[in-house]
Amino acid sequence: MADLTPLFHPNSVAIVGASNKPDKIGNVIVRNVIDCGFSGKIYPINPKEPKIAGLPCYPSLVEVPDKIDLAIITVPAKACLDVMEDCGKTNIKHVIVITAGFKEVGPEGLELEKKLLFICKKYGIRMVGPNCVGIMDTHTPLNATFAVGFPLQGDIAFISQSGAMLVSIMDWSKTIGLGFSRVFSLGNKADLNEADFINAIADDPLSKVILCYIEDVHNGKHFLEVVSKAARKKPVIILKSGTSQAGAQAASSHTGALAGSDLAYETAFTQAGIVRARTMTELFDLATCFSYQPLPKGDRVAIVTNAGGPGIVASDTIENTGLSMARFEKETLDALRAYLPTEANIYNPVDVIGDAKADRYSFALEAVLKDPYVDSVVVMVCPTAVTDPEAIAEEVIRLHQKYPEKPILTSYIGGVSLAKGAQRLSQAKIPVFTFPEPAIQAIAGMVNYTRRIDSGAEGEAIRFDDVDRNKVKAIFYDVIRDRRSVLLGSEAAAVAEAYKISAAPVRLATSPDEAVNLSLEMGYPVVLKVASPKIMHKTDVGGVKIGLNNEQEVRDAFIEIMENVQRYLPNVIPYGIEISKMMPKGTELIVGMTRDMQFGPLIAFGLGGIYVNLLKDVSFRLARGITHGEIAAMIAETKAATLLRGYRGDKPADMLSIIDMVARAAQLILDFEEISEMDINPVFAYPDGYSALDIKITIEI
Ligand code: COA
Repeated sequence: MADLTPLFHPNSVAIVGASNKPDKIGNVIVRNVIDCGFSGKIYPINPKEPKIAGLPCYPSLVEVPDKIDLAIITVPAKACLDVMEDCGKTNIKHVIVITAGFKEVGPEGLELEKKLLFICKKYGIRMVGPNCVGIMDTHTPLNATFAVGFPLQGDIAFISQSGAMLVSIMDWSKTIGLGFSRVFSLGNKADLNEADFINAIADDPLSKVILCYIEDVHNGKHFLEVVSKAARKKPVIILKSGTSQAGAQAASSHTGALAGSDLAYETAFTQAGIVRARTMTELFDLATCFSYQPLPKGDRVAIVTNAGGPGIVASDTIENTGLSMARFEKETLDALRAYLPTEANIYNPVDVIGDAKADRYSFALEAVLKDPYVDSVVVMVCPTAVTDPEAIAEEVIRLHQKYPEKPILTSYIGGVSLAKGAQRLSQAKIPVFTFPEPAIQAIAGMVNYTRRIDSGAEGEAIRFDDVDRNKVKAIFYDVIRDRRSVLLGSEAAAVAEAYKISAAPVRLATSPDEAVNLSLEMGYPVVLKVASPKIMHKTDVGGVKIGLNNEQEVRDAFIEIMENVQRYLPNVIPYGIEISKMMPKGTELIVGMTRDMQFGPLIAFGLGGIYVNLLKDVSFRLARGITHGEIAAMIAETKAATLLRGYRGDKPADMLSIIDMVARAAQLILDFEEISEMDINPVFAYPDGYSALDIKITIEI
């Protein structure tokens, strides 16, 4: 991928459209570049001015005598093409286009944007924007934006598809002392997009956390490749808006974004190891915790509080977010029992009670921090007349320095009387919340990230070489030649067989004799079903006969089905009758699929049978790059997993064969883009394998 270093560390910057008028963006940007302390050369460009902000001004880029690493364009849209040509001619390779009036305003703007991109490609220029606020790097330092002021230095990198959100956050961040390393406004992302910036930040040693606000992703497949790698190096936290129908419409009208379906985003984010924030508050809560604190080694949380009620609220939240309440070892309990008053609760949540001063907090906190069965701690303080919030804060800070490997978060439940203590904690990089729930949710985000990165789910993407693609192609060819899109049961079973998905045998018979011969081949009992893509509900027209045990029953059933169909649907001429082997009952599963424009096919797994829609016990994964670990995790997410493990004395199902089946189904839908729908329902799972009973495949070309 492109080296974007000159964007963050340019030796020289030109501002085209620089102005002496203080209310102009072209003036703000020049002042921002100067005021942030940028140490390189600055070249304002304006044909009418000899000097801008005290710096010599040039009429155009071509007149600048030195090499320019970065150009910031802030001239009206119609003038941008010429300026970009000048960038190309003067060998400038990195350009930020602040100017609005492109894709986001409609077809004319889109045309202009295409032309701008064409010039970039012609000269090998990498462009940020257009229609963006610009970028910042607090370590260089460089403020190539028209935001108000410059953020504090820190280790959070922030990428935002909304310029307005970016400038607001920068302004707000100073009120809570939050620092940033790099900040990017994506704008219309005509060239550089979120994946390019995530990739650039992944290797930046001064950025500990990557934070993103996005409305869509530019290229789903590429995005996932980049983010999966980045997430293994540092946390990537994303707020993706446009998840609701109304949100999606707002996103399209905002920057011309086309919001993908949320299911696909949710699945893709999980698979890539992204921490997903649901709200702006959560985005920055998570950012603060990831930035300030170490990652927890596990999910066991200890609470130290001076009030019972909030302790219970915190305990409930721990349970509801999938974390666990730490259970202390004996030494910890003995120590707490010996030191705390008898009215105190020494078990988690530790209640040091209302009259607790800093010494009691300090003792209890140290005891739980030392406990090997505690992975993180939330210290909660309610104000009473004897509480000393600042002294407690000092103890928390001291103990965090002494035990830096365990995250400590705080919840100062109150207002004015706690403000100074809370401020002291913030300054010392101890996350401080008013209420306990967001603190615990942030711990859950950190734990989930750690789990994800530590799990084997990344592994090797599954790829089978023993599949017969040509056979599937030939079947699809016949279906298309027949002007159909829905495969017959026998054809779908043959497709499954070609991918070594163990399907119950299904064969097509066109006469009673043939039906009998096929039944003998398969072995009794058998099922007979009318074969016609025009008949959706076969049972309703008397088109299905089950449990047939001998030749006579098969003959009779064949004739009866044909007569039934002729009576109910006189205009339908069936292809024949499908004979399938009646399989012993097993745990009923479903394997299905859906396709997403951005991320490609998703494979679904869940509890099968006739109650699928009612129970909705289904989990999804992207088919692309799926691993054994990923399939095992998707199975574990469903209630079907409980049945498969052996419910109420049943023998456990053969999990490895089920994983294999899901993997093969995933490869099938990846290999054949023309498969628009596939439902295998039910699949019977047995202790020694499985059988795919009813396979429905629809193709589209
Ligand atoms: N080379 C150099 N200077 C040029 C030029 C060129 N080709 N063409 C114009 N200029 C100068 C102008 O003379 C003017 O200088 P002056 O103030 O000394 O007169 C300056 O560049 C700016 O041009 P002007 O025509 O006055 O435009 P403007 O400042 O009113 O607006 C933009 C320019 C880019 C700010 C405006 O078009 C715009 O896009 N605004 C929205 C930006 C935005 O919201 N971005 C997205 C955020 S999310």
